[in-house]
Amino acid sequence: MYDFIDLDRIDLSAEAPSKEPERQYYFMAKLREFVAREGNRLGRKLTACVVTFGCQMNAKDSEKLSGILKKTGYVLTDDENADFVIYNTCTVRDNANQKVYGRLGVLNGYKKKNPAMKIALCGCMTQEKTVIEKLRESYPFVDLVFGTHNLFTFAELAYRANQEKKMVVDVWEGTDRIVEDLPSERKYPFKSGVNIMFGCNNFCSYCIVPYVRGRERSRDAKEILREIERLVEDGVVEVMLLGQNVNSYGKNLENGISFAQLLREVEKIEGLKRIRFMTSHPKDLSDELIQVMKESKKICRHLHLPLQSGSTKILQAMNRRYTKEQYLALAEKIRQEIPDVALTTDIIVGFPGETREDVQDTIDVIQKVRYDNAFTFIYSKRTGTPAAAMEQVPEDQVHEEFDKVLKCVQDTARMRVKRYEGQVMEALVEEINEGSNSAEALRELNAGPDEILLTGRLSNNTIVHFPGRADQVGTLVMVKLEECRGFYYLGRIVSGK
Ligand code: 5AD
Ligand code: SF4
Repeated sequence: MYDFIDLDRIDLSAEAPSKEPERQYYFMAKLREFVAREGNRLGRKLTACVVTFGCQMNAKDSEKLSGILKKTGYVLTDDENADFVIYNTCTVRDNANQKVYGRLGVLNGYKKKNPAMKIALCGCMTQEKTVIEKLRESYPFVDLVFGTHNLFTFAELAYRANQEKKMVVDVWEGTDRIVEDLPSERKYPFKSGVNIMFGCNNFCSYCIVPYVRGRERSRDAKEILREIERLVEDGVVEVMLLGQNVNSYGKNLENGISFAQLLREVEKIEGLKRIRFMTSHPKDLSDELIQVMKESKKICRHLHLPLQSGSTKILQAMNRRYTKEQYLALAEKIRQEIPDVALTTDIIVGFPGETREDVQDTIDVIQKVRYDNAFTFIYSKRTGTPAAAMEQVPEDQVHEEFDKVLKCVQDTARMRVKRYEGQVMEALVEEINEGSNSAEALRELNAGPDEILLTGRLSNNTIVHFPGRADQVGTLVMVKLEECRGFYYLGRIVSGK
């Protein structure tokens, strides 16, 4: 972990500084003192568990929370029966909210046995007023609630929650601040997400994100590059640039550079091997970006290009600002310029007013584009969004149509993924595969007695499993893709470290 301010040098008898991030380091030092004292009292180390729901943005935020917890002396664990549990929530679809409420009940059971336990909720769900009301009324055992805009104050809030008896609630309506240089604890030593922008200005009519994540704010390019350089120094070989709509990066900055220009700069960082990004809105994917991708040696051959619907009528009602034809033309252009690119997408089935013909249009686009993978969602009504006031589609019709779309996605993706069978490609080894089928896969691949099953990711985002050694995790290896198994490959290393 990178050390920005030494906690030992902070004078805790002084008042808390008002400047950030100094203020948060002051509270980290205070919290660290408390954690040590509690540990002595209990005769064991305090444990903390951060649980992430939802997207890559939340995963990145959770690393920031974990960084602070680790720095203040908590031992991080995956076990939710811990001294401090933080749920980093998602509210993009209602089932994510329901999952959180269900699991809070279980946490309450743990807390009854460990009354010193602290429970915190943050993330997109807590930005909704109705959620806060519900928490106050039905989940009074929750100790701390904060939102997406003040995540950087976590150290201060965690300290307060450990001092105060009643529920601490601090949720901001919005912010224009971006506080840099706080600790972060990466899940993977060799790859990392990097925020390049926060918020979204698109207001797709079904989507709650602009309400809970606020307006678009881009980080200064220099800060982004500095962060990536530091990550590379620390052993990172792959970065994923994160934003709700990376193609509008820089638009709100004075003298800002475009996303394509930012990519050119990131490419220059020595030692960095792979660059990914997420997510691109089709309406502002520029020719310049396609060109940069085409020329790049480091940008991965993968583009996630959310379609949402193939029907122009529905796209208009969704406020997506492109037509079926424009989307198809864009996909075609990308395929022509970068033939080896894998395209993936998001699709919503059951948006208000969607007919069987509209779904047929979606299926038509899937068949024409032939995605490598697609995430298919049933439309979920989100209070406060324009689509919530539109006439909803009957549930049984939605399920029928959803199954059709899913089958189409699976059939086309299976064919697409298979196209590299027999070829040799570079994979970043991400982890040891300890799944239930790993022994069988090792047998099938005639693995040596010392070999274990590893899981790697190709530049085009496809997963491949192959025999190897534990010390190869985090390295790039050349793998022969021996057999396609639907969405993944079984392979064999042909060269590597
Ligand atoms: N219902 C269903 N899916 C949604 N998404 C966003 N909002 C909703 C909603 N209300 C999906 C979109 C988006 C992905 C992250 O989540 O497909 O691209
Ligand atoms: Fe939601 Fe649309 Fe913004 Fe994506 S671009 S976060 S779907 S409003």
